[in-house]
Amino acid sequence: MKIGIIGGGAIGMLCASYLSKHHEITIFTRRKEQAEEMRASGIELTVRGQTFRTVVDAQTGLKGMYDLLIVTVKYHQLQDVLNELSTLPRQRILFLQNGMAHLLDLTKWKTAHQLYVGVVEHGAMKMTDHAVIHTGIGLIKWGPFHHEASAEFSHELEGASDDFKMVFTTEWKKVLEEKLLVNVCINPLTALLHVKNGELISNPSYEHMMKCAFDESVSILQMSEKERLWAHVVSICHKTADNQSSMLQDIVRGRQTERKAIVGYLLTKAQTQAIHAPYLTFFNRSLEVLEKKQTKSFE
Ligand code: PAF
Repeated sequence: MKIGIIGGGAIGMLCASYLSKHHEITIFTRRKEQAEEMRASGIELTVRGQTFRTVVDAQTGLKGMYDLLIVTVKYHQLQDVLNELSTLPRQRILFLQNGMAHLLDLTKWKTAHQLYVGVVEHGAMKMTDHAVIHTGIGLIKWGPFHHEASAEFSHELEGASDDFKMVFTTEWKKVLEEKLLVNVCINPLTALLHVKNGELISNPSYEHMMKCAFDESVSILQMSEKERLWAHVVSICHKTADNQSSMLQDIVRGRQTERKAIVGYLLTKAQTQAIHAPYLTFFNRSLEVLEKKQTKSFE
């Protein structure tokens, strides 16, 4: 297939590297220098200690017609991308954002494109403008955003590599909600307290705060199986005990966080159901202040 990947971050480069084995890839970046660097050097993917180089086309400015466009930019860059996508002829577009706020934007978006949504369960870290490390091997689960969007091409995305599987599912919303729950429990607290993920369960006071955020989120999302879900959140804290969450890393590096995509989405949902969410409100306001201060003190 002819696939266009929008975004030159870790996930964009990861998708471009693996999918280039069987597909013709064009990656769209915001900066000209990054596109030039990718055209000159290809993309270097490091996985399990080995580095591979793939040749891709790289461009700035969205144009053309693809069998599939994959949007990998963060939520705060999405609106600009939607505006650009509105100028393109009707095509299939897969959105791979974290959090769930983009679903509200996609619902409001008046477009003839065929929309798909996916959840990325990989860990990836951007090293340079043309190098990415695959730090955690997972899956991409994806499916149609609108029931009428056909997915007869789904088999073409299967089997790119054992390390990079794209699994079609109509249950993607449930998968997104569970990921959102993990992120809202771990990310804001680690960013506010400047602690690694494991401390949220080794310190009983932090664990209590995490449980309060969990309870609010579960009731906003109307999720059942609370015990299983809490055990899942705790197990992710164990497995990633030594990690700095992505939100903590964003705060430390002075970057915009995914606060709106994660906490913002839940607060919007809470408001529509008249649910009081004092912990999430506190997280949201404190993170907003921290983002403005651009703290860079965590070692
Ligand atoms: O955003 C993150 O950092 C990760 O999704 C997770 C699972 C919270 C681990 O750090």
